[in-house]
Amino acid sequence: MPVLRNHHTFSLNAHCQELEVFQDASSAVSLCDRYPHHYLLGEGSNTVFIEDYSGAVLLNHIKGLEVSESHAAFHLRVGAGENWHRLVTTALEQGWHGMENLALIPGSVGASPIQNIGAYGLEVGTFIETVEMVDRASGNVVILSHDECCFGYRDSVFKQELLGKVIITHVNFVLPKNYQLNTSYGELSTLSDPTPHTIFEKVISVRSSKLPNPDKLGNAGSFFKNPVIDVARFNTLKEENPEIPFYNIGGNQVKIPAAWLIDQCEFKGKQTGDVRCHPTQPLVLTNLGNATGKDVIKMAQDIMAAVESRFGVPLEPEVRLLGKEGLVTL
Ligand code: FAD
Ligand code: EPU
Repeated sequence: MPVLRNHHTFSLNAHCQELEVFQDASSAVSLCDRYPHHYLLGEGSNTVFIEDYSGAVLLNHIKGLEVSESHAAFHLRVGAGENWHRLVTTALEQGWHGMENLALIPGSVGASPIQNIGAYGLEVGTFIETVEMVDRASGNVVILSHDECCFGYRDSVFKQELLGKVIITHVNFVLPKNYQLNTSYGELSTLSDPTPHTIFEKVISVRSSKLPNPDKLGNAGSFFKNPVIDVARFNTLKEENPEIPFYNIGGNQVKIPAAWLIDQCEFKGKQTGDVRCHPTQPLVLTNLGNATGKDVIKMAQDIMAAVESRFGVPLEPEVRLLGKEGLVTL
């Protein structure tokens, strides 16, 4: 059975029935038809295979970068199987600025709209003009506009109505020439005279100091989303915990760093089997080498239960957990 360890960054020891690669839309459709029970995979940095998967894993290797220029912007059409960080690096080198805050996020371009990847004050949806995809039911190519993608915090139509129904083949980005540098995030605000290059370098240096490198220590980035709660609920929480950090996100809602909630419950550095809650960023769980899916589930459930019991705030996983038959919820 094909081994999945090198196809997901958490690097658990799991297998699948078949492992196939597609390089264009028509071969993607053929493979989906040939293997009705399948899971589409980019670079596996948001997917954790917690046990052997009984279906076929289809790897997206659709490549390509086409660029056009209008008087106001650069327009990029990028194959879904391109690497995200390589795209950000190329864009910086070519003078197509704006995306540098999103440097070093692992994964494929095709997965970037799915959870609307975000970091250091920016979300990718800001730059997405359209998403090209194949509708798996009809086999038709469909192009979704920016608005139709319904981007939100770690959310989009691809995680809701279109979950499991489409194959993203290309993403079209628009990078305005009158771009605005974004240094709103704490550590970036200390940059004097920021440029796209210094933001790029600073983001890489901050990320490298906080987040474990999945090439050295298996992980899937933030295991949970930062919970969003309404202001009334937050005010009560703040009375009980005056030091609680928060971000006002408008719409009568407040986002709380899950890292703080987990930290307060004293999980930092704790281990279940070979899964460890990362000592410098407790929102990240890591695989010390021989972690099992059971260890991952146990640690995640313990964290969720402790945070809910102490703060009354439910945590929701950001990662996709894949079990024998498909997606698993905690
Ligand atoms: P995969 O895990 O391969 O797939 C993710 C989901 O998308 C799966 O459900 C899969 O079926 C589906 N999918 C993939 N490709 C396609 C396609 N072409 N068509 C349809 N469905 C598809 N995320 C952030 O937002 N911000 C961060 O700062 C961040 N930091 C991270 C740091 C580390 C160290 C790690 C390991 C992860 C981090 N992540 C972050 C999460 C991850 O990088 C993103 O979610 C990324 O977009 C996942 O890309 P992927 O190709 O690896 O996705
Ligand atoms: N904190 C603690 N203890 C710690 C670490 C952090 O209390 O040990 C608190 C601090 O108050 C800190 C806050 O948590 O200010 C936030 O920490 P950080 O700035 O590291 O960011 P985060 O909210 O934990 C989010 C994203 C990351 C993204 C960074 C930077 C989510 C779920 N995670 O993390 O995305 O890179 O902001 O923008 O939104 C990912 O999605 O995989 C990911 C890594």
